[in-house]
Amino acid sequence: MKRTFNTAEMPIGVVGLGLMGCSISTAFLMAGHPVVAVAPLPIDLEHALSRITAHLVKSKEEGLVANEPEFYLSRLTITDNYQLLAPCKIVVECTIENLDIKKSVYQKIEAVVSPDTVIGSNTSAIPISILQTHVQYPRRFFGLHWTEPSHTTRFLEIICGEASDIALGEWLYDLSHYWEKEPTLVKKDIRGFITNRLMYAMYREAFHLVEGGYATVEDIDRACRNNAGVWMTLVGVFRWMDLTGVPAYHTVMKDLFPTLSNSTEVPKLIDDIVKAGGKGVANAHGFHEYTPEEAKLWEETYVEFSYEIRRLAQKYPADVAKRKLREKENKSK
Ligand SMILES: NC(=O)c1ccc[n+]([C@@H]2O[C@H](COP(=O)([O-])OP(=O)(O)OC[C@H]3O[C@@H](n4cnc5c(N)ncnc54)[C@H](O)[C@@H]3O)[C@@H](O)[C@H]2O)c1
Repeated sequence: MKRTFNTAEMPIGVVGLGLMGCSISTAFLMAGHPVVAVAPLPIDLEHALSRITAHLVKSKEEGLVANEPEFYLSRLTITDNYQLLAPCKIVVECTIENLDIKKSVYQKIEAVVSPDTVIGSNTSAIPISILQTHVQYPRRFFGLHWTEPSHTTRFLEIICGEASDIALGEWLYDLSHYWEKEPTLVKKDIRGFITNRLMYAMYREAFHLVEGGYATVEDIDRACRNNAGVWMTLVGVFRWMDLTGVPAYHTVMKDLFPTLSNSTEVPKLIDDIVKAGGKGVANAHGFHEYTPEEAKLWEETYVEFSYEIRRLAQKYPADVAKRKLREKENKSK
């Protein structure tokens, strides 16, 4: 099957226009794809256009795109009609984390698209090998795991399930560079994929420290911000150990690993918050206390920050040292 990277000729579908479906649709529009955005619930039809427009306006203001929002909006169709997905070469499902709902959405998608259309799920943690048992053609089914806001972040995990065609996964990997991603191809499915496994190991330890009375939520947040927060946009954990001296980590691991939490229970701290209806800044009830105004300001600040950190990440790409070397060589020629 011959595939092309002419994004203008490659319509993409997004099903589910909540928080992430809107920013994923924006990312595809910014990359030059026509987008068919399907609203499974009427509420999505009410807010999707204004959310996507706001992302495009801000992206133009921040210099991420050359064209005015109208240019991209003219290539966007928002609809509740799954039939309009028929010409799409890729469809990304972005509905809530519920297997039955995702299953019914796949049936609707597969009823209209061609058998070689790639279907991706933005699931946070349902194994792709499980999801793909519920589709007609599992070889074209992948995890496509984004992080919010998808149109500014460089993160994308492409996850192959047991039945996925790895060559198609490699095709998605290449194509996603056109979406301005620095993708990761997960060739063997594992629950939580890569980043959620790393992050949940850290969340578990954070709960262990608070519940054991070692430190407060505020202190742990401050430690994350000022330690890992300083280097994580430049390097990952392995290059960090390279940068700061590998033997020291080897020594510490021997004594520290046996003391880390390996609890398999959901921590009481988060259980209490969720049972009391707390959602975090979304309703001003979370691990920290917020007034409604403060919660709104945190949301706005995160959006503002996401554009700044993107600029910084672009200044220091993953291959920054190689690039600097090339620049030096070119200068000396
Ligand atoms: N929020 C994040 O930061 C994040 C990060 C990575 C992955 N994800 C994953 O992305 C997916 C969507 O998350 P979100 O944050 O955009 O959620 P959201 O709540 O903002 O949107 C959920 C979407 O699901 C749809 N939906 C709800 N009930 C439905 C039903 N009965 N039938 C069909 N569709 C229904 C809604 O119409 C909406 O479009 C989830 O699988 C989530 O785990 C979220």
